[in-house]
Amino acid sequence: MSAAPFAERILHWFESNGRKDLPWQQNATPYRVWVSEIMLQQTQVATVIPYYERFMASFPNVNALAGANIDDVLHHWSGLGYYARARNLHKASQHICDEHRGRFPTAFADVLALPGIGRSTAGAILALSYNQRHAILDGNVKRVLARYHTIGGWPGNTSVADELWQVAEKHLPERNIADYTQAMMDLGATVCRRSHPLCDDCPLTDNCEAFIDNRIADFPGKRAKKAKPQKTSHMLLLRSGTAIYLERRPASGIWGGLWSFPELSGDIQVAEWCERRLNVSPTGIEKWATVRHSFTHFDLDIEPIAVLVEKDSAKVADDDDHIWYDTDAPQKLGIAAPVMGLIQKLKELNENVPNR
Ligand code: ADE
Repeated sequence: MSAAPFAERILHWFESNGRKDLPWQQNATPYRVWVSEIMLQQTQVATVIPYYERFMASFPNVNALAGANIDDVLHHWSGLGYYARARNLHKASQHICDEHRGRFPTAFADVLALPGIGRSTAGAILALSYNQRHAILDGNVKRVLARYHTIGGWPGNTSVADELWQVAEKHLPERNIADYTQAMMDLGATVCRRSHPLCDDCPLTDNCEAFIDNRIADFPGKRAKKAKPQKTSHMLLLRSGTAIYLERRPASGIWGGLWSFPELSGDIQVAEWCERRLNVSPTGIEKWATVRHSFTHFDLDIEPIAVLVEKDSAKVADDDDHIWYDTDAPQKLGIAAPVMGLIQKLKELNENVPNR
């Protein structure tokens, strides 16, 4: 065992190597840190930054978020993925208004009780904003600790996670928890990387068991590989001039609460669907190339069918769950990235028609 304990090395490394200019590190209120931690859960820092800035400009505090329309919140999340994160943020902000008079709670149990916040995120929020002494265990920290202590097995297994939590708690310093927390995430993200780790730059190599054993690549253990299921969705891209017909998806399931194209199910034909649902006959039907979108648990092959209709004779008017989305004056809605990609193509089609 070399002289300086784990936490001391981490804090010393942080002084000259840690990230200190990220937007959520400025004026690190619990609200600002919370939103950043949720965005960063499945998304890289560089991707998050512009989304974070726009979100904060529109919803600068808990009250603003709680009072916002869910469509507006999802609109700010469009393209980030994992939309349950946004729905939970919105729900939690309303809970904070109702139960905590609009003040972000300071007690760990109260933070943990908020929708979308687990043990690590609760710890991170309270550590980073209030310097409270809690351990964290996000993906980056798991990697650092699994390597340092050669803790094998997939961290998604409870027994492996329990072991990692134990060492995470054990290394916590008495003071400077905020810096230590940020430092652990930064070390994992920038030095102790999943592939091509920069062990030469690491302050922990003297005692890192995986480094000493030359087995860095073995940790953390991986989940047993299962083939990803593949699903197909036949989507109807109904267009009438600059208007595109969208429906709100059910609250649960993929893209819950987001707006998307209607899906053709069973063996119903396009023309029949149009007649039944909109009471119109299509004036053109065209199959487009398949668009593949990968989710964590399955691959979705979207089979787009572009359909021209006369909106004015359609029986569906805008309401809470159906809308004619105007590509020239787009409404602020939550729309998943592949759906937005197809909308963009429809818009370009329209723009290429002379004297439309
Ligand atoms: N990933 C999760 N939280 C983070 C943070 N506060 N800074 C950088 N990356 C992170």
